[in-house]
Amino acid sequence: MSKLKIAVQKSGRLHDDSMKILKDIGVFVDNGKDQLKTSAANFPLEIFYLRNGDIPQYLKDGIVDAAIIGENVLFEKADNITVIEKLGFSKCKVSIAIPKTKQYSSIKDLQGKRIATSYPNTVTKFLNKNNVSANLHIINGSVEIAPNIGLAHAIVDIVSSGNTLFKNNLKEVDVLLKSEAVLAVSPKIHNIQKSILSKLQFRIQSVLKSRQ
Ligand code: PRP
Ligand code: MG
Repeated sequence: MSKLKIAVQKSGRLHDDSMKILKDIGVFVDNGKDQLKTSAANFPLEIFYLRNGDIPQYLKDGIVDAAIIGENVLFEKADNITVIEKLGFSKCKVSIAIPKTKQYSSIKDLQGKRIATSYPNTVTKFLNKNNVSANLHIINGSVEIAPNIGLAHAIVDIVSSGNTLFKNNLKEVDVLLKSEAVLAVSPKIHNIQKSILSKLQFRIQSVLKSRQ
């Protein structure tokens, strides 16, 4: 029997809410995420538990037909992937932050400065759009530490509650992107999987309505 292959974040901020939405639409999945790939008991669905940053490539290549993923990751790694549904959870921003004591009036202030980020493509697009050139320092995590250890003048990273900025004496000064979890589709999806995806999307829409 044909199944729809869907990627879900293996661990991290999206995982629990992604599994919750599958549960709420009545799709039963055993919680064995050590398996990395599992099938739903009562819906033609195969779930792939993957690293966030790897999901865009799996979508591009058609290894998975669809994914529950953050818009921020898509924008950074595959900005031509189609989003068919916003899922209303894991809302965050991708923002510029600088030390609390420093001034900022516009992105022009970062001309020639060092910016630490895990989102180099997103930052580069924003800088180019504003005709600003800056030096990017790419790090994978704990980005907020960079200004305090003299590694960068500014950072670009995810802001959710704002706690991490606050604790590191930083302030948000510009928003590059607003993001939430979305249902995204591979450009290589076949028709059979497309029709399964429509059923899944229909159920998701009813759950989202009932959550309002
Ligand atoms: C993420 C992100 C920010 C923080 C934002 O980091 O990189 O640092 O969460 O959330 P907040 O505004 O609610 O504080 P995470 O804790 O996932 O760790 P990492 O950066 O080391 O991956
Ligand atoms: Mg962080």
